[in-house]
Amino acid sequence: MDIGTLMNVMRDPAGIPSHPIVFQVLMVFTWIFHIAFVLMTFGTAGLAIYGFYRRDRGEYWTRLSMAMTKSAKAGVSLLIVLGVAPLLFTQVVYDPQWYTASVLSARWLVVFIFTLIIGYCSWFIFYYSNKEGARRRIGWFAFIGLGLFMLDGLIMHTLAYQSLLPEQWMNWYAPGGVVDTSGATLHGIQWSRFLFIISLSVPAAGLYLMAYADYFKSRPDREHAYLAFARQLGVKLAVVGLCFSLLLFLWWQADLWRESVLATHPVGWLLGVSMLGLLYATVRYGQRAHGYALMGAGMAVLTILAVWREIVRIHYLLPFGYDITNYPVHADWPSTALFFLTFLGVGGSVGGFFVLLLYRAGRVQGMYTADKLVSRMGTLAVVMLALWTVTFFVYGIVIWMSSVFGN
Ligand code: HEM
Repeated sequence: MDIGTLMNVMRDPAGIPSHPIVFQVLMVFTWIFHIAFVLMTFGTAGLAIYGFYRRDRGEYWTRLSMAMTKSAKAGVSLLIVLGVAPLLFTQVVYDPQWYTASVLSARWLVVFIFTLIIGYCSWFIFYYSNKEGARRRIGWFAFIGLGLFMLDGLIMHTLAYQSLLPEQWMNWYAPGGVVDTSGATLHGIQWSRFLFIISLSVPAAGLYLMAYADYFKSRPDREHAYLAFARQLGVKLAVVGLCFSLLLFLWWQADLWRESVLATHPVGWLLGVSMLGLLYATVRYGQRAHGYALMGAGMAVLTILAVWREIVRIHYLLPFGYDITNYPVHADWPSTALFFLTFLGVGGSVGGFFVLLLYRAGRVQGMYTADKLVSRMGTLAVVMLALWTVTFFVYGIVIWMSSVFGN
């Protein structure tokens, strides 16, 4: 049996409940938020460590290091939560590839969980200890945390890349004809792709700092000079980081050219052009433009990256006859409707409430009192959650009863 047929046979025999493109779009869309927080975490964590060792150069570095340590702490939890959605969607339409890649490096997938836990604990120790007058040696906890997060990123990359190379699977599974079920090797790493994506954390830290400076403008305890320092540093980081990322992008493009015909694809070059555009905007308007606007431009770059990754995947798998558009569909409209209503209704109201509440509370010094809009959104969130819980159970009980009495 050839590998293309094998991949199609490995698909879930139950099929999928809605058109595959729906899952593909959701996968690409949700991954943007995952990678945004990955980059924000790496960028702010790196800055926290750098600032920690520059504390003797002035009070601002101490403050910045403490603030960035806190940002990275929140970033890790968000990148994990926001990784779940694309993981689920990948497993729906690319299940043969994702499971094979996972089994081929199974030990590393287990290591991933433990290193994530140890890394997060380590970062927390740094977070609790990174106060004024903290000892230099606590910096080791930060290095361990960031190092382990990097390793986790490499594992994630390997799984994504191994999924694209079905022609190699047999060699990895049984090198020289001898079966190796240890799962102890990270077989497929494309350094240019991994380093390019990770390098974006430097400009991400820059854009984050610019938005940070604008966000805290309303707080009297964040004086103008400190925010100007953060902004200036942000512009510098974004500019230097983007130049560096552009070089790594060209390296990835060269690798893609060697491996397939993708070097001339317009979306790949659009990604490069969008980075150049962001570089231009930062150089020209970095000191004047609102930090949120530049951050929005950064999200646009990540959107193109997400689409580009998917195009790359399609191009790698099509020659083997793997095309998600012919995935067997067994339409299940009620569950599709329930999913979208949950996504928009509960996600929109509960998620929207928390985002707005945290956004506004952070801009006030001392105690925050919710205004009318926030308290109304809070009520709406509780109502939506109650409604969702009732619907969830009623729907489940109806299905259960109909299967009991239907037979
Ligand atoms: C510190 C932890 C993590 C880091 C640094 C990280 C980083 C990354 C990076 C760099 C990629 C892109 C790989 C590539 O395209 O070459 C990626 C993809 C991905 N990550 Fe994460 N990630 C982390 C944790 C997680 C977690 C906990 C989940 C799920 C719960 C997750 C789900 C995903 C998914 C689904 C993809 C896309 C895979 C694909 O398209 O085939 N990640 N991650």
